[in-house]
Amino acid sequence: MTSTPVPVRRAIPPVPVLSLAAFAGGRRAALPSLLDGADVRLVTSGRIAIGLALRALGVGTGDVVLVPAYHSPSMIPPAHWCGAEVAFYRVRPDTAPDLADIEEHVATGRVKAILATHFFGIQHDLTLLRALCDRHGIGLVEDCAHCFFGARDGVAVGSVGDYAIGSTMKFFPIYEGGCLVSHRHRLDVVLRGAGAGFEMKAALNALEAAFAYGRLPVLRMLLALPLRAKSALWGVLKARGRQGGQTGGGTAAPAPALAPSSSDSSFEFDARWADKRSSWMSRAVLRLASPARIVARRRRNYLDLQRALDGAPGCRPLYPRLPDGACPWMFPLLVDRPQAVFDALQRAGVPMTRFGATLWAGVDASVCANSADLGRRLIAFPCHQALDDGERAWLHAQVRQALETCAAVPA
Ligand SMILES: Cc1ncc(COP(=O)(O)O)c(C=O)c1O
Repeated sequence: MTSTPVPVRRAIPPVPVLSLAAFAGGRRAALPSLLDGADVRLVTSGRIAIGLALRALGVGTGDVVLVPAYHSPSMIPPAHWCGAEVAFYRVRPDTAPDLADIEEHVATGRVKAILATHFFGIQHDLTLLRALCDRHGIGLVEDCAHCFFGARDGVAVGSVGDYAIGSTMKFFPIYEGGCLVSHRHRLDVVLRGAGAGFEMKAALNALEAAFAYGRLPVLRMLLALPLRAKSALWGVLKARGRQGGQTGGGTAAPAPALAPSSSDSSFEFDARWADKRSSWMSRAVLRLASPARIVARRRRNYLDLQRALDGAPGCRPLYPRLPDGACPWMFPLLVDRPQAVFDALQRAGVPMTRFGATLWAGVDASVCANSADLGRRLIAFPCHQALDDGERAWLHAQVRQALETCAAVPA
């Protein structure tokens, strides 16, 4: 009889967290970044940037926006916000857009804009899609939420679309952040600050995320008292808010949240944040964190995990090799028995994302078999710059062990 090994539970950061090391390593970028765009606006999320890009393209009622059938559900509401309908185009097994399917959608004559996504940090060649858009007068939005840095065949990330969008909070140790950029058009977008409460929350949440994973211990000690006072004050304010809601008979509009729900793993789009600038804290970190270090460590961590899983049973990396000019968001692995492996890793506390497991209502294998298959089989693991050596070794061991254990159990 084989006994199932008990997973060793540990907490490692699922996303980048602040540390002093984040600011060492030089300001020169090893690869082009989205911020190299001629015009840039720093907003609070990638989805807000999608909404603003579609609005800048004149998308409105009766128009159709084409979105990849493999997607994050957060990519859809920005099109609805503009009054448009969304149609889904097929992707290839490696997530590249299926141009033949896009042509069929375009033939309806209603497509006003196309969203093209560079998944997991691997840039697609968009030359043919750009030409198709130019032929038909369709706007192209390059979705670089997973691809903040990179170049492919000399083409910088974000430079092909009329507009490009990024999700800075996926690449930097910040609580909130996205960007709208364009190499081709002037951005007619005016942003304003979201208030002192938001600024404070963005700063404190970034610091508290770092403290929760043992980073910045001296600062944590120094801030222990003020943070405790903040929690107490926060509790009082929340209780007052609840009381106010009750005495108001439920008719009053809910008070706007201090920060957008996009920072809390939700797929929602809150239009109240469409004209809000990213926080001072996020903008400062973007300016001061070393891009060279982010790129180098993400590449190293990705390649090390790939090596650690070499020959592991029941899996293969989505991409057989990491292209030279790519800076990965996460490490996507295709797994033969995804639910069993996911359950085992969840018991161990391994952070991971089943990107595409939840698709927009109605998007299933009949719409795109490749998207449904990716959504079912893909598990993505962190390779961000803030993982330390011990955390990486633990992650590698846990993933390998889960794959081997699950492969040894008869299906
Ligand atoms: C491919 C893709 N595009 C856009 C977004 C929206 O980004 P944000 O979460 O910053 O709003 C996401 C979010 O996960 C995404 O995965």
